[in-house]
Amino acid sequence: MNEAKGSSRIAAATGSRRQFLKMGLGVGGAVAGATLAGRAANASGADPAITEVQEWNQYLGLGTDAAPYGVPSPYEADVVRRNVRWLTASTESSVNFTPLHALDGIITPNGLCFERHHAGVAEVDPAAHRLMINGLVEKPMVFTMSDLMRFPRENRIYFLECAANSGMEWRGAQLNGCQFTHGMVHCVEYTGVPLRYILEEAGLKTNAKWLMPEGADASGMNRSVPLEKGLDDCLVAFKMNGEALRPEQGYPLRLVVPGWEGNMWVKWLRRIEVGDMPWHTREETSKYTDLMEDGTARRFTWAMDAKSVITSPSPQMPILHKGHNVLSGLAWSGRGTVDRVDVSLDGGRNWQTARIDGLSLPKALHRFYLEFDWNGEPLLLQSRAIDSTGYVQPTKNELRAVRGLNSIYHNNGIQTWHVNASGEVENVEVS
Ligand code: MTE
Ligand code: CO
Repeated sequence: MNEAKGSSRIAAATGSRRQFLKMGLGVGGAVAGATLAGRAANASGADPAITEVQEWNQYLGLGTDAAPYGVPSPYEADVVRRNVRWLTASTESSVNFTPLHALDGIITPNGLCFERHHAGVAEVDPAAHRLMINGLVEKPMVFTMSDLMRFPRENRIYFLECAANSGMEWRGAQLNGCQFTHGMVHCVEYTGVPLRYILEEAGLKTNAKWLMPEGADASGMNRSVPLEKGLDDCLVAFKMNGEALRPEQGYPLRLVVPGWEGNMWVKWLRRIEVGDMPWHTREETSKYTDLMEDGTARRFTWAMDAKSVITSPSPQMPILHKGHNVLSGLAWSGRGTVDRVDVSLDGGRNWQTARIDGLSLPKALHRFYLEFDWNGEPLLLQSRAIDSTGYVQPTKNELRAVRGLNSIYHNNGIQTWHVNASGEVENVEVS
């Protein structure tokens, strides 16, 4: 890494230490010289991977009873959720992060969905779990899990993003890896009952305006949700990616609040109270509000604005070859679909349109690609999402100009990765 004194337009992060880098002074690196993505069969001499019989050709493998519930190859052992140890005092009220850098497509595998708990993972026996609806309803009701299975159900793919995702980056580049800067997001297919059907079963009183979902964990997490949202697209979900919710994700029941901050997606859902006013719970007053420069706080910032991140190259995914390379990333918006993703290789001076591949669903992750040739010059990689409302993802400085420096939540500013001449990648900010 080139270190230079004096001013520069990029400020880098190495843990909590800040450095100033200077671009353009490329030194010889460890990057292979090939420009083709592959090699001719006779070009590399004797490659033992071709010429030798491999060990796994020579014995019988494990049988079909070896793994009743399958696990990934041991060679993928690094692809795991990770914690940032200094972030919280204990792991019970903490967060771990989705390994976004190592994933592809838009669906997050169940075992890799980031976790955020306020009181650890509740171990709930589904036979003893109940969902109660009370408050401003004609008939207060209690449902067992099997009662809920008799409602019509729907399957929908949504992202869930914690409002605190990228929160550590408000004052400058901090953490080296999109797993840590952006990994409080996951996207799965939920199976559940539209909340509207359950509320209609209990019968809403005419003055019903607000809902207060509550969790069965020791934190008893609760939030105020406007009734219109509950009647619009919320689900009471019991499956993710086709199988039962994982305990970490709220087994046996969680609320799905599409496009809105993850904190509202109450896990281990046991009760929904119907009221005529918001409750102003802890999670919507001292937490999950946005403190502005003048000391006032924004109330109820529910929707997650359009955001994107390049997942590869990224600090955990350096560039290994000159020539053809595939840049990939994720984009999402809590207000609809992502219509376009622009990518810059030079810190936002020039932009090109990336290719969105696969499904483009509202309030779900979108996967984008940009194939590019790398000649070994340093790069400043950025991506910028534009959603179906026309909203353009802002730069971090544009965001700070409006919000000041006191915020934690709702940081959807454009991320910059600096690629050095060796292909190593670091979290930086451009000014
Ligand atoms: N629900 C309960 N009951 N308890 C919690 O601690 N954490 C919330 C929300 N729902 C939480 C909860 C927060 S802050 C987020 S971001 C999401 O759940 C995280 O969901 P996940 O763990 O499935 O990623
Ligand atoms: Co959260």
